[in-house]
Parts: sequence; structure tokens; C-alpha cells
Amino acid sequence: MDKRIDYRIEPGGRLQGRLRVPGDKSMSHRAVMLGSLAEGTTEVSGLLEGEDVLATVAAFRAMGVAMDGPERGGMRIQGVGLHGLKPAAAPLNMGNSGTAMRLMAGILAGQAFDSELTGDASLSQRPMGRVVDPLAAMGAAITTAAGARPPLKIHGGRSLHGIDYAMPVASAQVKSALLLAGLYAAGTTRVTEPAPTRDHTERMLRGFGYRVQSAGAGVSLAGDGRLQACSIEVPADISSAAFLLVGASIAPGSDLLLEHVGINPTRIGVINILRQMGAELEIERPRQVGGEPVADIRVRSRALHGIRIPQEQIPLAIDEFPVLFIAAACAEGETVLTGAAELRVKESDRIAAMANGLQALGIAAQETEDGIVIQGGQLRGGIVDSAGDHRIAMAFAMAGLRAGGPVQVRDCRNVNTSFPGFVALARDAGLPISASADGNA
Ligand code: S3P
Repeated sequence: MDKRIDYRIEPGGRLQGRLRVPGDKSMSHRAVMLGSLAEGTTEVSGLLEGEDVLATVAAFRAMGVAMDGPERGGMRIQGVGLHGLKPAAAPLNMGNSGTAMRLMAGILAGQAFDSELTGDASLSQRPMGRVVDPLAAMGAAITTAAGARPPLKIHGGRSLHGIDYAMPVASAQVKSALLLAGLYAAGTTRVTEPAPTRDHTERMLRGFGYRVQSAGAGVSLAGDGRLQACSIEVPADISSAAFLLVGASIAPGSDLLLEHVGINPTRIGVINILRQMGAELEIERPRQVGGEPVADIRVRSRALHGIRIPQEQIPLAIDEFPVLFIAAACAEGETVLTGAAELRVKESDRIAAMANGLQALGIAAQETEDGIVIQGGQLRGGIVDSAGDHRIAMAFAMAGLRAGGPVQVRDCRNVNTSFPGFVALARDAGLPISASADGNA
């Protein structure tokens, strides 16, 4: 068993300079998946070498895909074509990654062979019915543990057919799983979303030469096409940049430039929400890189004020709420979030984990069924538990910038799932953070 890693943050830091955070996690998973299923060699740069993406890489290697790398974000994938995967010798362990498990379920449902997907303790508690049920409607045969939880046993050799599916939750993972299964289905697979969610699957499929149609809230594709290898440059992950955007906003004297950040309109809820709270964020040098918008983002500290978070921003900022709650704790007045029950089924119950941690640091934070109410105030030093969730750990690391005393964050190992090198990068930018095994300095 690996030793527990704790963070300790001393008060009084500020963030300065220019830096580039690691590659986008959503795009990295998709680059590995589509590169593996394409015909020819796909070259990827900027790939996130976090544990979640490495689980996807290992899964395709186990199914016979040859890949060089990843090395410093570079990877060469020898695609085997849509029908070239081979059965893995053992269950595929997707670690902590909900994205990997749900998207893989879509791909594996269309294979000629059986597969099994497993995960760590957190992933094993996450709901899979949201992909298993519509995949079954397409003709897939998938069995789960009680309560539609992992492991997923996916029976191959089924013929899939397209469906017209109106998603009950706004989920890019569900949309993507169905579109990926649709590559193997007879006829057209159409997914309609209740609110816009990240569209990296659609964009990247088009980059691989696949015809994908978007009309209003619906996206569709027909099966039986092919993917042509291409090169993909993965920009820095706005979900990782978010910690530093908030950190620099709340720490007086900060002035930070985050380079080459993906600013896809389906991902910029954190920018929209922070600006509404009064943050000073400037988008510099906006450009297009491989079908995705990218820019540098400059952030300077500013007094923030509480807001009611607009409903339409929720799917656009779905992974950024832990750190947005830290912004709310440092803001003048009250911040209210409703309609965000999805946060309870992420890598942890993020509403409960954040409310507990904020209370431990002296902030009035009241959980509701589908959200939270936070009164801005003075953070004090203390001990908080990350609940084994990478984004809770990094959010409370940023809280240390405004706390009256040292903040200790417990159980931070899973930061490696999305942001390898976080401690060194944040320290270089001016966060007085150290990491220790089992709480020993
Ligand atoms: C992701 C979609 C989101 C997000 C997750 C990554 C993706 O999940 O929370 O971290 O890559 O498609 P949902 O689509 O389930 O909201």
C-alpha cells in the first residue's frame, strides 16, 4: 500500500510569473482512444501523463495497440482500425477515472470479444447505469455489480443499432460513450443534451475525418465509417489552470500568466463565474490549435463578491466547483449554488467534502441536497480531508493562500490522476506548499 501524502501550506503566499499546466485530461483520453481505433499512426503532443490517462493507455496496450511514449507529452500510436482490437488477457483497470470507464464501455460494447472494466474504491462506487442503460438499448450486453456499479462485464459479439437518446443528465461522458458505440452501430446514433456539455469527442472525431452532425442540442453520427490517423496537439487543461486562476485571484499581490490553455466554450464556466464574482481575467492571444480554441490567460488579484451561480454555467464548470467554493469563501457576501446534484457523484461527494473542509477552516458553508450556500469570511488554519479526491486536495491547497495559519490537506496522492507535478509547479509560482508522506514533514 502506498503511503498517504499530505500537503502543508504556510500562509502569506502570492502567485506570480508565467507557467503552463499539464495537458487536458478529457482530450488526452480521447486522443489515445481515437488514435488506437484509427488507421495509421497518430502523433500526439501535450498529452497529460496523469494516472487517469495512463490507465487508458494501458488498456489499449493490453488490447494489442502499439504505442511509443508517453514521453514529455509526446506519443505515437499505431492505430489498429475500428475492428483491430484484441481481447485483453485480464480485466482492464481504469483506476480512478470515470471518463475512461464510461467511454471505454461504449467502445467495448461494439467489439467481437468479451471485456471487463474495473476501478479503484472511488470509481467502484460511481453510477454506471447512465451508460449501461442506453448502451443496452443499442443492443449491448453489459452486466454490473449491485446498484449498476462497476465492475462492468461487457459481452462482445453483439450487433448494435443506433438509437435516438435524450439524456436525462447533462453528461459529456454519456454522450461520448454513445457516440463511440455508434461507430459500431447500424444506422444513426443521435444524442440530445439537456444543456451543452464539453464537445471534445465530436471535435476530435471530425479531426479524424469522421462525419459528425450537430443540430441544435443534438449530435449524431452513422456507423460503419473509418477513422484516419492525424496529429493532435493537446492544450493545457483549463480544469487544472482553474486552481491557479482562483489562487491568483484571492492572494493579494498576485499576477500570473497561464500559457496555452484550452478555452473551448463548453469548458469556460470557471472564467465566466469568476468574472461575475469580480475577478480580473484577461484572455490573451486567442488562437485555434487543431480544432480547439486556445489562449493565454492573465489573472491578477482582485476583491471578489458572492453570487448566485447561473444554472447554464454548471455543466461548463462541472469540475471546477471545488476551487470555485474556495473563491466563494474568500468573497464578500453569500454565494449560492443549486441544481448541481451531479457534484455528489464525482470522484468524491464534492458538496459534502467541500462543506466539511470549509467548516474546518472556519467558513459558514451549508450543504443543500443539490448545492451549497457559502458565506465569505476569514479562513483560518486547520486540517482538512481531501476524501481521496484530486480536485478537493488542490482546492484546499489554494485556500492556504488566504488562511490565517497553516493548512494541512490529508490524502493528496490522487492529485497525480490529473495534475502530476502540482506541488513543484505551485511552489514555483509562489504557493508555500510542501508534501509529506503520512503527515511527517
Ligand atoms: C468529462 C466529463 C465530465 C467531467 C469529467 C470529464 C469528459 O463528466 O466531470 O471530469 O471527459 O467527458 P460528466 O460528463 O459525467 O459530467
